[in-house]
Order: sequence, then C-alpha cells, then structure tokens
Amino acid sequence: MIKSRLCEMVGIKYPIIQAGMGPFSNNNLGVAAANAGALGLLSTSGLADKEGQPFVYDAWIKTAEADPNDDMATAMEKVLKRTYRLTKDKGGVFGINVMVAAEMVPQAKIIIETAIRVREENPDMKKHFKVIFTSAGDPVPWRDTIKNAGFTWMHVVPSVKGAQRCKKAGVDVIVASGHEGGFHTSWEPVHSMILLPAVVEAVSDDKTLVCGAGGFCDGKTLAAALVLGADGAQMGTRFLATQESDFHQIWKEAVVEAGDRGTLVARGFVGPARWVKNKRSEEHAVNTLKKSPGVFLGTPDDYSTLDMALINYEIESIKAVYDGNKEKGMMAAGECAQRINDMPKVADMVQGIVKEAESILQGVQKKYLA
Ligand SMILES: Cc1cc2nc3c(=O)[nH]c(=O)nc-3n(C[C@H](O)[C@H](O)[C@H](O)COP(=O)(O)O)c2cc1C
Repeated sequence: MIKSRLCEMVGIKYPIIQAGMGPFSNNNLGVAAANAGALGLLSTSGLADKEGQPFVYDAWIKTAEADPNDDMATAMEKVLKRTYRLTKDKGGVFGINVMVAAEMVPQAKIIIETAIRVREENPDMKKHFKVIFTSAGDPVPWRDTIKNAGFTWMHVVPSVKGAQRCKKAGVDVIVASGHEGGFHTSWEPVHSMILLPAVVEAVSDDKTLVCGAGGFCDGKTLAAALVLGADGAQMGTRFLATQESDFHQIWKEAVVEAGDRGTLVARGFVGPARWVKNKRSEEHAVNTLKKSPGVFLGTPDDYSTLDMALINYEIESIKAVYDGNKEKGMMAAGECAQRINDMPKVADMVQGIVKEAESILQGVQKKYLA
C-alpha cells in the first residue's frame, strides 16, 4: 500500500491533499476527499468579501449549513461543526485553506482565530480537524498563533527562497507549487519538475515535509512526486472536476473540455493566474499585457498602481460563472486540465489514482533496473 510520512503526520490513508480552491466553497468536496482517505481542505476565500461580492458569499453559505445573515466568524464556526459531523464516523481528516495575502490579512485573522476557538471548545474535533494551510503571503507572522494551537501547519510556496522562509517559521509541511497550477501562480514562473526537487533538496528533513502542487492529477504524477522526493502531492484541478465538487457545473465542464494547450496566464486578484482558454480569458490576457505586463515579465505590481479595470473585468467574469453564463465567464484551472477528461466521484477517483501510482512504483525496479 502506498504511504508516506505525510500519512503518518496527519493520519490520512493516502499521500494526497485535496487543494483548497475558492471562490466557490469546498464544503462538500472537502468532506468527500477526507472520507476518501485524502486530506480534505475547505477553502475560505469565498467568505472574504461579503459586501463587494455577495453572490460569492451567498453561494458559499449555501453549502455550509449557515445563514446569509451570518458574519464570517459565525459561518466559519458552522462549517467546521458540519465538516466534523460528516467526517467523524468515517475517520476523515480535514483542514482549512486560508489566503494570507497582504490584501486579506484582516479576514485571515478572523478565520484562523475562529478555527482555533471552535476546536478548543470541541476537543474531539482535534482527531479530524488537524490542519491549517496558509497561502499567498508571508507565513512568519502566523507562526505563534498556529503552532501554539497545536495544528499541523502547511504553507504553499513558489520558490526555494519561500520554502526557506517557511522552514524558518516552523511550517510542518511545505507545499512547492509549480507554474502549471490552477488559479493564482507566482510572478516568476518555475515549473514543478524543477521546483519540487529543488525545494526537497533545500528544506526536507526529519521535521519538515515537502509536497508538490501544480500538474499532479493521476497515479503517474503522484508517483513522480514521490520519486522526486516529496511526501505527497496536492491536487486542485483534478478534484475540481468531480461529482461532489461545489464549483458551478460550467466551471467543472470547462476543465473536462479543455484540450491541448487549454490554459493561459493573465491577471488575477493577487497576481498572475491561470485560466481555461476561452474568448473572454484571451481578451483578459491581451488587456493584462497592456495594463499589468509584470504578469509576463515577472515584476510584481499591486493595487496602488494597477488599472482596476482589469480586476473589475475578472470580477464580472467570475460573476458570470455564478449566473451560469459560459460566454462571459472565466474559469481558473491548471495546465493538467488538458489531461482530465471525466468527472468521477471523489472516492473512485482517489482509489484509481492510488492504484495507478502503486502499480507504477512496484514496476519501476523491474522495468528500469538491470
Ligand atoms: C479554481 C481554483 C481555485 C483556487 N483557489 C485557491 C485558493 O483559494 N487558495 C489557495 O491557496 N490556492 C488556490 N488554488 C490553488 C490550489 O490550491 C492548488 O495549489 C493548485 O490547484 C495545484 O495545481 P493543479 O491545479 O495543477 O492541481 C486554486 C486552484 C484552482 C484551480
């Protein structure tokens, strides 16, 4: 049976992390992934802007057994209790994905403090709600809050330098995210084939685990991550296109329908982002080249200089998806969308990935070593 140090550290069956993916909730997806033996992560970015994007908030709330009038902390408390209730009999393990980008620090603080309080008040939850996964920002300021609360702390990085900062902060599992990945990617593109072994070499040790993200979507790529020295793989786009995924049907279908060279990079809320290629995203890429060329040059810009028309275009395009309008919609996904051709149930998919990876790893010696 396939297993790794990640399985031991967080008590999951398989070395697979279902990525946190907003702006839709992962409230149903996270339960399905956890109960299938992977680590299920709930995305929280859909809670960040109740006033500015009420359609995002309302859709998130619907899958949380929460109320549209709930504030962020109340909604968070309800979803954590719901996820615990739905995973506890099956031994599922879950966590939350929290974006800590500079623009989102106040919201991140509320989410993380609520998570810590709710777990303290419900001690049995500790057997299931084990992980806080931070992303898109500096990990260091969050060290004491997360570590003192006893969570396993994961953080995602796009570079060796970022991984070294995580190690200094005491992050338990560093996730190296290559440029193939869906939605926000780094300003300076480095792909998984280079990034993952480089991060393993730089920071992996007895205490610090490393996982890959970006391009991992089946048994072959999971086996590759392990062979490159990782302790597991995080998969986003693959989990998005599943029966239980909370994403809108047209977003899921866009992943399944994306073919050869089916994605492109253009401006996202907090930097470069990878989208399924369609007329709308191609137009956004052309506008990005004019208004935020740093996306293609590797030079960061921010809201103080950026023409906000670009961000508004993105918000309109995401709203269109919530309205089911395929023509005006933009759907984020990773390059591996071109390798995804079905929309399975999560448990079947996880089993398929694990079996394929096991058979590849068992065959490696026979096939390649004399
Ligand atoms: C639609 C979508 C939304 C995402 N949203 C988030 C997010 O809110 N927070 C985050 O840390 N990562 C987010 N990601 C990145 C994933 O967590 C993950 O790192 C990435 O999907 C891995 O690459 P893959 O898509 O090739 O599997 C998102 C990815 C996708 C496809």
